[in-house]
Amino acid sequence: MKHRFRILALLALGVLALGALVVAAACGGGDGDGDGNGAGGDLDAIAKARGLTPEDMKHALQQFVPPGKYDDYVMISSGGHSGQVFVIGMPSMRILKVIAAFTPEPWQGFGYGADWGDTVLEQGNPTTPAGTDLTWGDTHHPAISETGGEYDGRYIYINDRANGRVAMIDMRDFRVKQVLAVPNIQTSHGGMFVTPNSEYVHVSSKFPMPWPAGSYADVNEYKEKYRGASAWLKIDQETGRINLDESFEIEIPPYTQDLADAGKLASEGWGFIGSFNTEMATGGDAEGGEPLEAGASKNNFDFLHAINWKKAEGVIAAGKFEEMNGVKVIRLQTAIDEGLLYLIPEPKSPHGADVDPSGKYIVVGGKLDPNVTIYSFDKMQAAIEAKDFEGTDPFGVPILKFDSVMAGQVEVGAGPLHTQFDSKGHGYTSMFLASAIAKFTLGEDVVTTDEEPFKLIETIPVHYNIGHLATAEGDTVSPDDNYMVALNKWSIDRYAPIGPLHPQNFQLIDLKGGEGPLELIADMPIGIGEPHYTQIMKADKLKALEVYPPGTDALTMTTDPQAIEAGGERVERNGNTVEVWMSAQRSHFTPDILRVKEGNTVKLHITNVEQTRDATHGFAIADYNIQASLEPGETSDFEFVADKPGAYNFYCTEFCSALHLEMAGWFLVEPAAAAALR
Ligand code: CUA
Repeated sequence: MKHRFRILALLALGVLALGALVVAAACGGGDGDGDGNGAGGDLDAIAKARGLTPEDMKHALQQFVPPGKYDDYVMISSGGHSGQVFVIGMPSMRILKVIAAFTPEPWQGFGYGADWGDTVLEQGNPTTPAGTDLTWGDTHHPAISETGGEYDGRYIYINDRANGRVAMIDMRDFRVKQVLAVPNIQTSHGGMFVTPNSEYVHVSSKFPMPWPAGSYADVNEYKEKYRGASAWLKIDQETGRINLDESFEIEIPPYTQDLADAGKLASEGWGFIGSFNTEMATGGDAEGGEPLEAGASKNNFDFLHAINWKKAEGVIAAGKFEEMNGVKVIRLQTAIDEGLLYLIPEPKSPHGADVDPSGKYIVVGGKLDPNVTIYSFDKMQAAIEAKDFEGTDPFGVPILKFDSVMAGQVEVGAGPLHTQFDSKGHGYTSMFLASAIAKFTLGEDVVTTDEEPFKLIETIPVHYNIGHLATAEGDTVSPDDNYMVALNKWSIDRYAPIGPLHPQNFQLIDLKGGEGPLELIADMPIGIGEPHYTQIMKADKLKALEVYPPGTDALTMTTDPQAIEAGGERVERNGNTVEVWMSAQRSHFTPDILRVKEGNTVKLHITNVEQTRDATHGFAIADYNIQASLEPGETSDFEFVADKPGAYNFYCTEFCSALHLEMAGWFLVEPAAAAALR
């Protein structure tokens, strides 16, 4: 009897959907006499054999998603220097897709000859300086497009930490459609966010660079010649693409601008950027100077930047800008004169700057300060109105008085970084040094009435060295109160030893409806790059295509002019050019022999004429570095020179059918010498 009782106890712990499976198993498999010989007995036997505690079993049930069922959430995670983006189901923590962003990726056929991907990669190459074909990136902060402050499941934006670029991923097919080298920004870090109605995606510079971009100045002239930028990139609502013509930048001082967040509800129309190194240290330890990190950590306060982007739109409309490298730039003096930029002291090398769901509070973690500092947007506005400044920075930007705008501080522990929120008036802050997450009450408006406005409630250890954390729907105006994920940088002893390079460690934590206590449910190793940040969206907001409409060009999401239907296959020879319209359908390519001469330009248009869900084909030619993913309904275009004579096999790279291995053909490149002899 006690076994059945234990299962009921599990149910009472709130794992109803998952527990139902156990009940079904217990009812279906039990022999009904309660002697423990049924499924309940089986569970105990399994637990015993595997050394699992009742806690382990509960957590397994919380994470388990039965075969054929979907996860409740999708995590959109950056992939760090893999240059990719991952889609992960939650709570199961299963990887659903790896999306190419800045790095060629053969599964999605990105960067291996298919026109859509090559075009995206090429368009993303930097212009100042020009001449580099970048084939990697360091994806950092994903930002899902929003409507009314809620994730809307349309587009994902992600920045490249290394090269100051932004990529746009279309959530209709989860493929990257645009990579933009943002002018006047060389590197970016956490300056990514979308505004609450996706008017703009924002990215700001990390380290400043000599301005205008493309010029040179020694770091000895750092203060005079180096500048950063806050870029407001206009989103085309139909395509999700960034329209640079309607975008603008604001010149900002040569500090190291860091994490940023959009104002929402109470603070809509504003953006906030943390910074460090207001000392403007440049390093030089081998030249008799100070190491960069020591020089950058001297001041007691750095500056939170508050930017009024709504007002900046008016300044642009009034023509008060300069065109610099193809984008409208509001110069720093104009930003000061027009009241677009204010600085707010933030303690000791701050990192995260996070706006709470109400938009009333901005929470900052100081890496070298045990407190999180909570600023009031209302107090900020009052101080600006009253010109309650403590002075200006070296560039003339007004600095608001710390005591006038600070709402409260909470001593959380060592190394506070990033803060996420629930809907019950709580903040959750990651602490790198402490390897823990702190939960605290956030402000006078806390829902739970018996709590003090700014008070530490509890901390939970994580494993190890946490960077970001994310709550479900965490950056929206209405976070869910069930799950939180810790993105830990070190895994150390959590997994089987597989060499000196360890996976990152994601940990799934139960928020218990915001009521706590916090409880660790599961670990998830990620052995791909260094996932940096994630946003967690309700899965019912997904509106991806099941198949492309017939003949779709994945880049434009319109009908490819070269698309064919079955029966429309043909080869045309025109001078030195051979143009082929090919179909792919289980289990053949038509035509399956392509004859060209060495030196011919080959234009190849392949249409997957299938409209069956999951009937994807691939197309690869040996020794030509060509690989495409031909998804149902997709037309893919290639253009290349047949510069290597020989007989090359081409084949379908997706196991599409029983005769998948037979889905192949020949690319015959007749040597020029042989052709001449004939
Ligand atoms: Cu088509 Cu395998």
